[in-house]
Amino acid sequence: MKKKLAVLMTGAMVMATLAGCGSGSDAAPAAAPAATEEEAPAAEEEAPAAEEEAPAAEEEAAAPAASGDTISVGFAQVGHESDWRAANTQNYQDTFSAANGYELSFVDADNDNAVQLEAVRGFIQQEVDYICIAPIETAGWDTVLQEAQDAGIPVLIVDRSVDADASLYETQIGCDMVAEGETAGNWLAEYLDGGDAKILVIEGTVGASATLGRTEGFNNIVAQHSEWEVLDSQSGDFTQAGGQEVMESFIKSYSDFNVVVCQNDNEAYGAMDAMDAAGITYGVDGDVIIISFDATHDGLQYTLDGKINCNVECNPLQAGFAADVIQKLQAGDAIDAQTIVTDEAFVAPGITSQYAVTMTQEVLDGRAY
Ligand code: AHR
Repeated sequence: MKKKLAVLMTGAMVMATLAGCGSGSDAAPAAAPAATEEEAPAAEEEAPAAEEEAPAAEEEAAAPAASGDTISVGFAQVGHESDWRAANTQNYQDTFSAANGYELSFVDADNDNAVQLEAVRGFIQQEVDYICIAPIETAGWDTVLQEAQDAGIPVLIVDRSVDADASLYETQIGCDMVAEGETAGNWLAEYLDGGDAKILVIEGTVGASATLGRTEGFNNIVAQHSEWEVLDSQSGDFTQAGGQEVMESFIKSYSDFNVVVCQNDNEAYGAMDAMDAAGITYGVDGDVIIISFDATHDGLQYTLDGKINCNVECNPLQAGFAADVIQKLQAGDAIDAQTIVTDEAFVAPGITSQYAVTMTQEVLDGRAY
């Protein structure tokens, strides 16, 4: 394993976490992860299937390497823009812990592409064993991925995807964002049952695969419905403040709408605040149907309360798949080029759907995030 240089963290908003300080080694961890009674990813197991359920948080953690060797991992995270992101970061920090045999260097790029690219270059200079990148945008990755490859450091693209030569990274792990958008559209068609829709869309971060995919998927269904009209579609940057700002501007521009699509839960919270302030009712008993994405705990509480009509999940518990890939690479085993983390959708009480689970308190209590 490569010699460790001093830990180099970049950018004003960087939050560095060294989850362990062990020395590097060329040896693969001898022990397979086994944090619970249930099966956790093991180095000698089959490569993950193309579509996988996210393991529970406690299942994901790899067991400490029996030899005591540590695997160093640099994780260039998007930022801290949403509840989803916080759950995803926590999942990486829990999984790539010192107790599990890892030394995690974590950089929060604060949704700044330049900071994220610098973080990856810092990991290369640091000579980490593996780099995980949750790319803010799809574009602009070829050069730095080539630099990582030239340095002999395997890269895993996680959560979102990149527009780069696939030979420059080992694998991509994440949810199917196009399918998420199509689920939202299919649910709306089922719910409206031929009724008109005047739709406002609050998109996520411009250029992010989560935004591009959800927009494409939803528009695939819009194209099948001549009775639907998308009045406007603007970026709320996946934040509550962004969602509120965009919704306030929509309210000024449009007096007649009956559907608001928010591409994540935090945007939905902001949109609801803006509609509350304007006296616009929403949810199952209101005038405006709200569709959200992520299905985080608070988002599902709003769904259970009937404020969000439909909430399409994007599962943040993905670190176990990354750990599984790393264990396989350590062991010299084959890995899949892509792992799609499976999602569900949820609808408010009183709604039944072939596309979604009807929310109950039990469903909410059973959620892991
Ligand atoms: O890439 C996943 C998306 O990014 C989540 O929907 C959102 O909450 C986050 O900002």
